[in-house]
Amino acid sequence: MEIIILPTPDHVACYGADLCEALIRAKPTAVLGLATGSTPLALYNELIKRYQQQRLSFSQIITFNLDEYVGISANHHQSYHYYMKTRLFDFIDINPANTHIPCGDVENVYHAAICYEQQIQNKGGIDLQLLGIGRNGHIGFNEPTSSLNSITRVKALTRATQADNQRFFDAIEQQPTHAITMGIKTILQAKQLLLLATGVNKARAVKAMIEGPVCAMCPASCLQLHQYATIVLDQQAASELTMRDYYQFAKQASDTFSTQYVDLGQ
Ligand code: PGA
Repeated sequence: MEIIILPTPDHVACYGADLCEALIRAKPTAVLGLATGSTPLALYNELIKRYQQQRLSFSQIITFNLDEYVGISANHHQSYHYYMKTRLFDFIDINPANTHIPCGDVENVYHAAICYEQQIQNKGGIDLQLLGIGRNGHIGFNEPTSSLNSITRVKALTRATQADNQRFFDAIEQQPTHAITMGIKTILQAKQLLLLATGVNKARAVKAMIEGPVCAMCPASCLQLHQYATIVLDQQAASELTMRDYYQFAKQASDTFSTQYVDLGQ
């Protein structure tokens, strides 16, 4: 794991955008795994800016999102379909036919999950998977105790996650309790992982992910098993790490290489 600790959330977003840009330049047909939530917003704004500056084109890029709520339609203002359209896709030259998000409002969500996993494999797998982390250590909607060998499936959301997301839903509406999410195995199969975390409320989960044991109680700890996982943190999210000085020393030594995309092959 490469641990990058930067001064502010803006630095985190720019660093993440640099990695995405390096990949897209090296491979204009890359398959990008995308995430939702508040953390990636600044990164998406940075990618939009780079597209507007004609530094980047997404015209041949393929995307797969991590997850979607069960039971709400794609045009619901809190669906992840709506989020991606209004936060990123509408502002770049991506072909909508090349974007994939699980369908949470179909009759058979279990079947939809299996088909989604298959679609990822059919496109040759994900080159770079972007991730956030929940306060309970989840990645995607892989909640604590998720199987480390899981693939895309329907997951029940914990009360903690429901509480964290409550602010996005109107008081009177029924908040989703389930989601379709890529599994931990699906995520680990991506060639490169890029997890961003900012803010002090992520510090405990970040410590468990990086310095705790690999365990299902902290699904993000599975990143310890990946060969090319980059974790980019602001000072606050890194504040509980015991080996902070070491990570900063290691970064200085590798600065020359860290934003260069290496073709990781199969
Ligand atoms: P957040 O969510 O970026 O809104 O904090 C991250 C997550 O729950 O995965």
